[in-house]
Amino acid sequence: MTYANPHAPEDAFLETFPGAMALDLGVRRGLIDRIALDGAVPVDALNLPAEAAFFPVLLERAGVVVRTGDALSLTDAFARVWPARRTALAHKLRFLKAVSVDLAMGMSDLVGDLPTFMKQAHSFDIFDYSHALKTDADALARTQIWCDYVAVLTETEAPEITAAIDLDPGARVLEVGGNVGVLASAIMTAFGAEVTVLDLPGVCELGKRRNAERASGARPTFVAGDARQGEWDELPGAPWDAVLFKSVLHDWPEDQRGTLLDHALAALGPGGQVIIAERGPLEATGPLPYWLSADLVFAPFYRSGEWYAAALRARGCEVTQFTPDLGLPFHITVGVKT
Ligand SMILES: C[S@@+](CC[C@H](N)C(=O)[O-])C[C@H]1O[C@@H](n2cnc3c(N)ncnc32)[C@H](O)[C@@H]1O
Repeated sequence: MTYANPHAPEDAFLETFPGAMALDLGVRRGLIDRIALDGAVPVDALNLPAEAAFFPVLLERAGVVVRTGDALSLTDAFARVWPARRTALAHKLRFLKAVSVDLAMGMSDLVGDLPTFMKQAHSFDIFDYSHALKTDADALARTQIWCDYVAVLTETEAPEITAAIDLDPGARVLEVGGNVGVLASAIMTAFGAEVTVLDLPGVCELGKRRNAERASGARPTFVAGDARQGEWDELPGAPWDAVLFKSVLHDWPEDQRGTLLDHALAALGPGGQVIIAERGPLEATGPLPYWLSADLVFAPFYRSGEWYAAALRARGCEVTQFTPDLGLPFHITVGVKT
């Protein structure tokens, strides 16, 4: 493993806590934009108090800026990332900051009292799915925060997932918990498939808005509902050739993961595919960059590829697995219903 997601070059600037915090402040104060626009900015022009001389030094050590004489400019490496990945950086930094507080204050609960950790964690407050049951402006604003974050992650994972799976042109795919349709749209484009996303009402509303301008061949259909209710063969768009779960099953207790897989297989005919893309448990080797903290709060819920393969085999599927190199443990498990 290379320990870097090739589609997420911004992670190189989220390797350390001090570097990431300096970058966050530089972005929020408009400093990064200013340096990018002007090419070079004298340190004096930043109007920092003398005691804050360490701040541009942090940005230098984080590889964001380089100092020539008394002027700061973006490093070539950061200039290549900015501005194309600025949105990704903003969403990742927002979540990382919440996680940092949670880990600093709650590591003991994370390893010893998970329910208390989850009740107190800012990161789980961000991922409060109950807001997505409503579609008023306030509820959508709350829902958008975590939808934007997972969309940024999925944008960088979708190329590896579409490279691993195989679907016929015109295949009908149900993506359960497909969020705002990032992977769904990528699959439509890659295979000429028809993808329907089943997700909560607020998420579907945001997904429709996000994809409204897309060409019909890349615009998923959104169906609002509760995936736990099953009977997916009765949803608009059925019958399905494949049911897809991407970073969804780990959200549920193990028995409910099994129920969701049962729902999927009940909605498929022989030859139909269940496609599962999930992060795996933390591995013992490799670096521990700051950006990896974002996954630690979910670490108790990740299961190995073997766990998912066994769950599909137990339900009569023939299983194939892929492990794309996304900088962290990640597995794609495809079960074909026999
Ligand atoms: C961790 S996110 C993953 C989103 C997306 N698959 C991705 O990887 O970007 C889990 C998704 O499951 C959805 N979800 C949660 N509870 C659900 C339910 N009861 N029925 C349908 N979708 C649900 C959430 O709204 C969210 O979009």
